[in-house]
Amino acid sequence: MFKAVLFDLDGVITDTAEYHYLAWKKLADELGITIDREFNEQLKGVSREESLRRILALGNKEDAFTPEEFISLATKKNKHYVEMIQAVSPKDVYPGILSLLRALRANKIKIALASASKNGPFLLKQMELTSYFDAIADPGKVAASKPAPDIFLAAAKEVGVAIHEAIGVEDAQAGIQAIKASGALPVGVGDSKVLGTDIAVVKETSELTMNKLETIWNKK
Ligand code: BG6
Ligand code: MG
Repeated sequence: MFKAVLFDLDGVITDTAEYHYLAWKKLADELGITIDREFNEQLKGVSREESLRRILALGNKEDAFTPEEFISLATKKNKHYVEMIQAVSPKDVYPGILSLLRALRANKIKIALASASKNGPFLLKQMELTSYFDAIADPGKVAASKPAPDIFLAAAKEVGVAIHEAIGVEDAQAGIQAIKASGALPVGVGDSKVLGTDIAVVKETSELTMNKLETIWNKK
């Protein structure tokens, strides 16, 4: 049986993946760069700085800004995003997530957050989920962001569970790559055509039950 579940946040626990997209789109529009949802798949799970690099590259503007300007653009996107998430509340927790967290705790399975977002702690607080988490891995402290395995390795370490005894839950291509590289068992939320047909994928978070995770674990 698995001993920990390492959760991504944006797009897994709540719909903030959409707000990241809207905030990037707003910034990109201001820069005269058009991004769409298909391009956004490449931004999901990726750090703030790397997302900005990818957007600037799309608009052939990677050399158009000084390092200081680059930082202020990233800060501006975060301001747009932080404005959008002020109203996030317990009502916004995706279906099935709260009952899964309760079931995991009842089964003494550790719960950790492995999000690339520096806004993770704020969002857990807004959704009143902080107390369910045994650890929140700090994305500011890992050497490399997703698709590197670092944040999942850090999350497992913080809850004292060997990575091979953990499940990672993700909605992003970069996140699934990170889980695979870490040695945890990946579970995707979304479309298997996007996330891969070689891993377990559920379409909706409501399918993420204790039973489902056990079945996936026993099949590996
Ligand atoms: C990830 C999101 O969880 O966090 C990305 O999927 C986002 O879209 C990244 O860029 C960093 O988030 P933040 O809130 O620190 O800018
Ligand atoms: Mg995500």
